Amino acid sequence: MKILAIETSCDETSVSIVEDGKRILSLATYSQIEIHKDFDGVVPEIASRNHLSKLIDVLENSTKNLTLNEIDCFAATNGPGLVGSLLVGTNAAKTLALIFRKPYIPVNHILSHMYAPHIENQIDFPYIGLVASGGHTILFKVSSFHEIEFLGSTIDDAIGEAFDKIAKFLGLGYPGGPIIDKISTNGKIDLTNNFSNITLPLSDEKDRYNFSYSGLKTAIIYRVKKMNLNEEVIKHVVKNFQFLAIEHLLDKTLNALNDFRLNRLVISGGVSANSYLRKRLEDIKKEKKIEVYTASLKLCSDNAAMVAGRAYVDYLKNPSIFSEESFKDSVFSRLSFIKKGKRG
Ligand code: KG4
Ligand code: ZN
Repeated sequence: MKILAIETSCDETSVSIVEDGKRILSLATYSQIEIHKDFDGVVPEIASRNHLSKLIDVLENSTKNLTLNEIDCFAATNGPGLVGSLLVGTNAAKTLALIFRKPYIPVNHILSHMYAPHIENQIDFPYIGLVASGGHTILFKVSSFHEIEFLGSTIDDAIGEAFDKIAKFLGLGYPGGPIIDKISTNGKIDLTNNFSNITLPLSDEKDRYNFSYSGLKTAIIYRVKKMNLNEEVIKHVVKNFQFLAIEHLLDKTLNALNDFRLNRLVISGGVSANSYLRKRLEDIKKEKKIEVYTASLKLCSDNAAMVAGRAYVDYLKNPSIFSEESFKDSVFSRLSFIKKGKRG
């Protein structure tokens, strides 16, 4: 089954065709990073306008070797995300579904991230799933694609958001994660001097699976204000921030693995590209004999292949709720209400 999916939840316009949730037949992504760089973050209004102007080009790039007639279902991210941006992708996918008389599958963005490592790996259930991105930091116990137990999440900033805010404060640019990752390779972890007394947050039992990044961000900024900054010092600042942020992430994740006696971990989202995190995961794999799965770098950040993959498992679970008839019914019945002057 070939699914064409559209992802426009934030600042990436992405279209992909994936066969049976596994084989990526095409993946075209246009990133708006260059546009938002000047603002040190994503500007929602600018993001949605750029999705509008780029989507057709990206769609054409993704369908070079296939005709749209060959697509079995159309899917799009329908949330969470920036509402104006989501509307561009969902309306385009719904329109294609109507034109080609195929099912339309709305897909949850967090579940798509969780699916990404499944594209290239054969992963058994159950496992502990961690989504670490710019908007989310969430731990789940995953027993199947459809039995997912929420364990905990950030109580304030997401981890990627903290990377972005620290980079912004230091004038390093946007997005902060990859920049800090790169710069910190030459920094030194030293928690004795400038970074002493920064303890990892939420050690209470009730917060066993929760995260917090706002306090860490403020603690780093507070210390930086007292330092004479230069390139060399910045390398150490970001190295220590990255160390603390990632160790906090792993701390809570290991709590969940231990408590549920699971030895399988699946990590996804933009921050799962972080090289220090990946190095630590290699250590943990060996030390604790845990299977660890991540997606390849191009599938860590927002992309439509993971949306098509998740759409496939959602469709298989209950094809009838996505049938062309039920989709048409819902769209046209609402339209008929409008014609009759009734509120639907
Ligand atoms: O998953 P994603 O593309 O979008 C959201 O759904 O949020 O994640 C973007 C986030 C940004 O905050 C970015 O700074 C962070 O992922 N990120 C990284 C790295 N690459 C991207 N954070 C740390 N290290 C990286 N290498
Ligand atoms: Zn995302």
